[in-house]
Amino acid sequence: MADPQTWDAVDSYIVERQVGSDPVLAEALEASRRAGLPPISVSATQGKFLHLLAAAVGARRVLEIGTLGGYSTIWLGRALPPGGRLVTLEISPAHAAVARSNLERAGLSEAVEVRLGPALESLPGLVDEEPFDLVFIDADKPSNADYFEWAVRLAHKGTVIVVDNVVRNGAVLNDDGDPNVIGVRRLHDLLASERRVSATTVQTVGAKGYDGFTMALVLGGEAK
Ligand code: SAH
Ligand code: DHB
Ligand code: MG
Repeated sequence: MADPQTWDAVDSYIVERQVGSDPVLAEALEASRRAGLPPISVSATQGKFLHLLAAAVGARRVLEIGTLGGYSTIWLGRALPPGGRLVTLEISPAHAAVARSNLERAGLSEAVEVRLGPALESLPGLVDEEPFDLVFIDADKPSNADYFEWAVRLAHKGTVIVVDNVVRNGAVLNDDGDPNVIGVRRLHDLLASERRVSATTVQTVGAKGYDGFTMALVLGGEAK
């Protein structure tokens, strides 16, 4: 029974009972599909998880790296309090255009800024802003460790950093030269020695297959 079809069916079961369906989120996915974007946004259960996490930490300032069509952005943006702000970084003009229109439909155009360009070029421009309360890293996997370093730099004590796709169907254990896996392994190796955060990784199955996410809490001192 523990096969991908079951994972998918259980995700539907959970969505029916805890997540629900929403015309704005459904249309965000549909518009992304129509525009030819790859179907790699977080699942509904993962989106709701990010939303609850943002609400639980009372995030007023959220940073997302990797926008795609803005599906995860909408989940996170809906957790913002009045006056809250989300900056999401996207390299593809086509993806950013779809995201902006999806965010407009979600009523989030004012709270959310889609910043176009390679994330590593946009991130230095954020150092003069207030630190972020929550960072969601979900862009190109080879740069994961660099994004994580930036996230810590743009954080304060208590900031939560979440990184998507860090298990990759178990490929994280392979040492076979896949640049995505190398990137993910660089992140896990960084976390092994990074004293400024306390982290764990939760493996997941569901509509998006077998993967996992890392959650890191930025500490104040040196303890781990
Ligand atoms: N967070 C989205 C999915 C993001 S998919 C969701 O769950 O709905 C990854 C996105 O990262 C893609 O849109 C891709 O264009 C973008 N990306 C890839 N390399 C990037 C880079 N160097 N800088 C910024 N964005 C990048
Ligand atoms: C891919 C990227 C993602 O962020 C994801 O959640 C799933 C797949 C990819 O690049 O294949
Ligand atoms: Mg992802």
